[in-house]
Amino acid sequence: MIEMKDVYKTYPNGVKAINGINVKINPGEFVYVVGPSGAGKSTFIKMMYREEQPTSGQIIVNGVNLEKLKNSKVPIFRRNLGVVFQDFKLLPKLTVYENVAFALEVIEEHPDKIRTRVMEVLDLVKLKHKVRSLPDELSGGEQQRISIARSIVNNPKVVIADEPTGNLDPETSWEIMDIFKEINKRGTTVVMATHNREIVNTIRKRVIAIENGRIARDEVRGDYGYEG
Ligand SMILES: Nc1ncnc2c1ncn2[C@@H]1O[C@H](COP(=O)(O)OP(=O)(O)O)[C@@H](O)[C@H]1O
Ligand SMILES: [Mg+2]
Repeated sequence: MIEMKDVYKTYPNGVKAINGINVKINPGEFVYVVGPSGAGKSTFIKMMYREEQPTSGQIIVNGVNLEKLKNSKVPIFRRNLGVVFQDFKLLPKLTVYENVAFALEVIEEHPDKIRTRVMEVLDLVKLKHKVRSLPDELSGGEQQRISIARSIVNNPKVVIADEPTGNLDPETSWEIMDIFKEINKRGTTVVMATHNREIVNTIRKRVIAIENGRIARDEVRGDYGYEG
């Protein structure tokens, strides 16, 4: 569960990115975050995984009150979250296997368990055969599938994605959406910022529209709703 109460965020340069957000996202939900560029979508999402902190207001994620979370506990908090970025952020010198295994090695999981789990998530994203490749030997869509595999390897309760199809062609974007749908079907909460109108209007889910740092619209099975 993700909850924000009266959340405001002003960046050090004075930009008021978030201007009073109240929202609840329940376990197992699939939520699109839409809105114009600069509306505050990324800031909204970054506060969920404590990449940014609000200037005021309360944020509770998976039962953790982020205001009270010490910086030293942030890595442990993030184990229950998967994060996927528009530009993948894979480690270029590590193989696909190593990129995905990394999060489990950090928590000193048993090597046999690591192998089993890595192959399981690579199977889910249909890239088992690329296990020995380096990121730059893969297409954009394949790299994003690896980054999704990495995001779920810890079995997080929530996966947060900021424009995960932003750098991909339409066909590849639909393949990526199939994976997010499957992850959500298995019980994981998915929160995804996107500009992809076609996807939002076809795979109907809850839509939270952000404008000027506020929630302008919140619909159970919403549409994309902007022109152009
Ligand atoms: N690190 C930052 N420092 C200062 N201003 C920022 C920072 N990140 C974003 N902003 C500003 O905050 C506003 C919201 O940005 P953002 O959350 O990235 O919007 P979106 O993801 O909807 O495009 C914009 O005006 C942007 O320029
Ligand atoms: Mg953004």
